[in-house]
Amino acid sequence: MASSRSIKRPIKTEMERFEPFFSEQLKSKIPLLRIITNYILRKKGKQMRPMLVFLSAKLNGNITEASYVAATLIELLHTATLIHDDVVDETYQRRGFFSINALWKSKIAVLVGDYFLSRGLMLALDTDQIGVLKVVSEAVKEMSEGELLQIEKSRKLDITEEVYFEIITKKTATLIAACTTAGAYSVDATAQKRGWMKEFGTYLGIAFQIRDDLFDYEKTDLIGKPTGNDIREKKMTLPLIHALNSCDARERKKVLSTIRRHHKNDKKVAEVITFVQQKGGIEYTHNKMIEYKNKALAVLNKFDDGDAKQALIELVDFTTERKK
Ligand code: IPE
Ligand code: IPE
Ligand code: MG
Ligand code: MG
Repeated sequence: MASSRSIKRPIKTEMERFEPFFSEQLKSKIPLLRIITNYILRKKGKQMRPMLVFLSAKLNGNITEASYVAATLIELLHTATLIHDDVVDETYQRRGFFSINALWKSKIAVLVGDYFLSRGLMLALDTDQIGVLKVVSEAVKEMSEGELLQIEKSRKLDITEEVYFEIITKKTATLIAACTTAGAYSVDATAQKRGWMKEFGTYLGIAFQIRDDLFDYEKTDLIGKPTGNDIREKKMTLPLIHALNSCDARERKKVLSTIRRHHKNDKKVAEVITFVQQKGGIEYTHNKMIEYKNKALAVLNKFDDGDAKQALIELVDFTTERKK
């Protein structure tokens, strides 16, 4: 299986320089903020987005200061949205440990998320990276819209497969596409190549979120965040949507009513998970993920061979095979 180490090989020095660059942006005199940012800096995450920025830059030219700004800005915004997302989803575990809202409560988590967001925006402005800022701000707007559309659908329980793809494109794929686009932009890639990079990032991002949604139906300790949480939140993702499309009206009504009335009941949630498995929801979703993975690879193939391309192919494989 593709490993994080081999993906990083062509950008090893860049990822090493990225670390202090990232933490430098979070300096504050407020003691509480220092405690919390230190805590966040110790629980890194996969850092897939900065890796994608650097590899996309390398695929299209030579890494520049603008590539560092893009990588840092995006990781700051990503971290902000995770902190907020755990408040919204009422999730108490993140990256294998307690989430910020679990340790410091929602009030503080909301403000810390805002702080990360503002530091990202300031970095882009201080370094005059307006082009990068534009790409990334658009992604943040889409992300908020995607999360709100998701909440609307979880209230009405009327989501279709089409709307599911709209939601995951907005809430996740746009930011992944911002990584690949901003990476290419930071090395002055042509408009045509930037277009391909955006397309590549979008397909990859869709596959990435489908993998994440499949996690919710799995049971391992590796993931580092709770599973079974989506149904508890009445979040209907592709495995469930497909299962509901594969049964008769009576059964559909019964399952929807269980979700509506008993989504906080572990035993009932387990029943819904079994229903999804029996109706082939997991298999169907897995196949869809592979479909998007292959679309991503097809776009990548338009680029010349080399270290960066090879590492990106491995990153695509990692996205769909990862265990966390
Ligand atoms: C989690 O993203 C949020 C989703 C878009 C599913 P990651 O899985 O990249 O989170 P970290 O940064 O590695 O923790
Ligand atoms: C992705 O959705 C969240 C964002 C895009 C911020 P999820 O709610 O599924 O992400 P996890 O599973 O909490 O990481
Ligand atoms: Mg969540
Ligand atoms: Mg999830």
